[in-house]
Amino acid sequence: MQKIEPIAGKLQIICAETQAPPAALVVFGASGDLTRRKLVPSIFELFHRGLLSERFYLLGCSRKKLSDDDFRKIAQDTIQAGHQKDFINNLYYISGDYDDEQFYKRIKKRITELEATYKIESNRIFYLAVPPLLYTTIIDRLGKATLSCCNQSDNRNQPKLVVEKPFGSDLKTAVELNTKIHECFKESQIYRIDHYLGKETVQNILMFRFANAIFEPLWNRNYIDHIQITIAESLGVGHRASYYDKAGALRDMFQNHMLSMLSLVAMEPPTSFYPDHIRDEKVKLLRSIRPFNLLPWHTDIIRGRYTAGTVDGKNVCGFRQEPGVAPDSNTETFVAAKMFIDNWRWKGVPFYLRTGKRLSAKLTEIAITFKKVPHSMFASVGLGDMPANVLVLKIQPNEGISLSFQAKRPGSKACIGTLNMDFNYADIFGAELPEAYQRLLLDCMAGDQTLFTRQDDVQVSWELLEPVLEAWKNTDLPPHPYPAGNDSFSQADNLIESDGRHWRKPL
Ligand code: BG6
Repeated sequence: MQKIEPIAGKLQIICAETQAPPAALVVFGASGDLTRRKLVPSIFELFHRGLLSERFYLLGCSRKKLSDDDFRKIAQDTIQAGHQKDFINNLYYISGDYDDEQFYKRIKKRITELEATYKIESNRIFYLAVPPLLYTTIIDRLGKATLSCCNQSDNRNQPKLVVEKPFGSDLKTAVELNTKIHECFKESQIYRIDHYLGKETVQNILMFRFANAIFEPLWNRNYIDHIQITIAESLGVGHRASYYDKAGALRDMFQNHMLSMLSLVAMEPPTSFYPDHIRDEKVKLLRSIRPFNLLPWHTDIIRGRYTAGTVDGKNVCGFRQEPGVAPDSNTETFVAAKMFIDNWRWKGVPFYLRTGKRLSAKLTEIAITFKKVPHSMFASVGLGDMPANVLVLKIQPNEGISLSFQAKRPGSKACIGTLNMDFNYADIFGAELPEAYQRLLLDCMAGDQTLFTRQDDVQVSWELLEPVLEAWKNTDLPPHPYPAGNDSFSQADNLIESDGRHWRKPL
């Protein structure tokens, strides 16, 4: 751990950054989209920032026949100029069939050779950047080739398995996947990625809540009226239509990103920054969520599906017309939910969550609305209803934090207006925020599981959603239509408006 102290410009900054130890990153699905768009550029950035060990290499594994040079050329196109060569020469490639045991023998041989070249004795990371259908095959073959074997007493150096979401498609498949993984890897070797946890602003929820003494005393049912969590996207399903048609918004966004943000914003203070102290609190919070009310006439969770409309001035087709989506698909592209957390801190405080595709804009935020003043002393001069203070954690874009409050406007005797106290990452720290995968890859190399989802977290979240999946499977009622470019529809509005509240606008 590297410590950098204390002053940068006028800001007091205390930094602790992890330096990656020597590591071998073995990527399955190396010729695919995720490797090209996220993994290689993120590893390169770590190299560029001096955080990668000199004793590092990446071995790409895939079905496609490519040489080391072909792979390096593909990688080169995805990264910025500057010291490219020093980096690119550490990339290697091997092709074969994922179910062929011989392929894993060749991988093992190649790893052994490269480890000798790079003088790396351990810390192999097996990254599954492949469709979930292939997870169990690859894990099984890694096990058979004894590549998962862990004879390291130190967790940081044992072979690691990185699994991308979705972690199963319901409770049963999630349990099966976890069982299969555990046949070959121990929980301390498993890194389940929810890339939202790698976002700087999502991690900042922890810092904001637990490094400031002034907010935590207010962070409960006595002062908070309600909390809204929004992940809105203007994009549709793009080239992932066939995956998305089987998943839908509940599996794709809600089970993971939405519930992760909810648990960070609502959990109890962990005793330390130690990974399992934080992950224990997240799971404890998830366990306290009240099961959804699913009565058709009074449901707490609403689904929608976009129809043709206009986004960013362009006409776009409806979900059912997207290439790769079944014309009679009943998959949801929007979910809005009202949730309650049955514990001392949150009893009675509603959490309203919504996520959707093809909405008017891309925006992720958590808005905490405090209770209004109990009595307005300004009522006699016509200022009876004071707006509540709202604290907004702006996750993306325009990352930052804002707090609204009432203040006197100069001039007249009594004129009150709402002002915002704004903190903006770009204004203060300048550069763009690092891509979430940089943090996650770095932490994985260093053996830090804090930002990775633990098995019980996955299972508890599926347990919560299982009745919803069942209800949606068994109903004749399709998702509610909303034209692309709209941010809501009447049934989703009603979920919050029937409580006398409103979704925050504009998206
Ligand atoms: C992914 C989902 O996990 O997150 C995608 O599968 C979604 O459907 C994406 O578009 C959103 O991530 P971000 O970082 O762009 O908000």
